[in-house]
Amino acid sequence: MIKVVDVHKSYTKENETIKGVSFEVHEGQIFGLLGPNGAGKTTLMQMIATLMKPTSGQILIDGLSADKNLLDIHRKIGFLTNEIKLDPMSTPNNLFDFFAELYDIPANELKDRRDQSFARFGIAPFADKRINELSTGMKQKISIAISLIHNPPVIIFDEPTNGLDILTSKQVTDYLKELKEQGHAIILSTHIFSVAEELCDEIAILVDGRIAAQGTVEQLVKQAEAENFEKAFFKIYVANHVE
Ligand SMILES: Nc1ncnc2c1ncn2[C@@H]1O[C@H](COP(=O)(O)OP(=O)(O)OP(=O)(O)O)[C@@H](O)[C@H]1O
Ligand SMILES: [Mg+2]
Repeated sequence: MIKVVDVHKSYTKENETIKGVSFEVHEGQIFGLLGPNGAGKTTLMQMIATLMKPTSGQILIDGLSADKNLLDIHRKIGFLTNEIKLDPMSTPNNLFDFFAELYDIPANELKDRRDQSFARFGIAPFADKRINELSTGMKQKISIAISLIHNPPVIIFDEPTNGLDILTSKQVTDYLKELKEQGHAIILSTHIFSVAEELCDEIAILVDGRIAAQGTVEQLVKQAEAENFEKAFFKIYVANHVE
């Protein structure tokens, strides 16, 4: 569903941020990107979400490339990142209407979607409140609901539980598990090991723009000859990071 082939990205002439990354994510799979600050996770996810072009290499979404099928890809992906903020003066209801129109979602279908996702995330009581009056957790839940308004088969979530308390975080991880069961292909980044361990079928550890190791949690622990996943991550980082 998501195919990344030897992708490179340079923001400047001197530095290469992504240095040849390849992986695939299939239907019903959660693929995790783990790595220290600045490793290139957001850069990679922005390219997969077509917000930015790779310097070289190829990214295919359901066999389509952004060069030829940009609009088709937009209908197939849902993208969440902390870099994009909701309009503080808008309301959840207005944002829902706006994005529904953008994705041509029929009115009757929109009502069901809104009812469902507002109910599931407890958004309904806040539906007509201004975004700037809402808590961090509520804003994140609204962002998630909006990013999936068109029920995309591919989900790209950059640190979806960042800044959330454990209760809200659990609502989000439970939802991701459900989406996986429904067959969505999901790629997520996180700094929270418990989230990665609980959710991800496969994890790529990104260090300095390269995949230093990739596999299931068990495989990574075994490969690093570590006691647990956190220690495996640390060992893999130390072995691959160049000062
Ligand atoms: N627009 C930009 N112009 C120049 N350099 C950038 C730009 N965006 C990111 N970078 C650089 O690219 C590198 C990777 O950044 P990126 O945000 O992708 O990392 P990350 O893995 O998402 O980190 P974090 O865990 O902190 O979110 C960093 O060195 C960053 O400074
Ligand atoms: Mg990031």
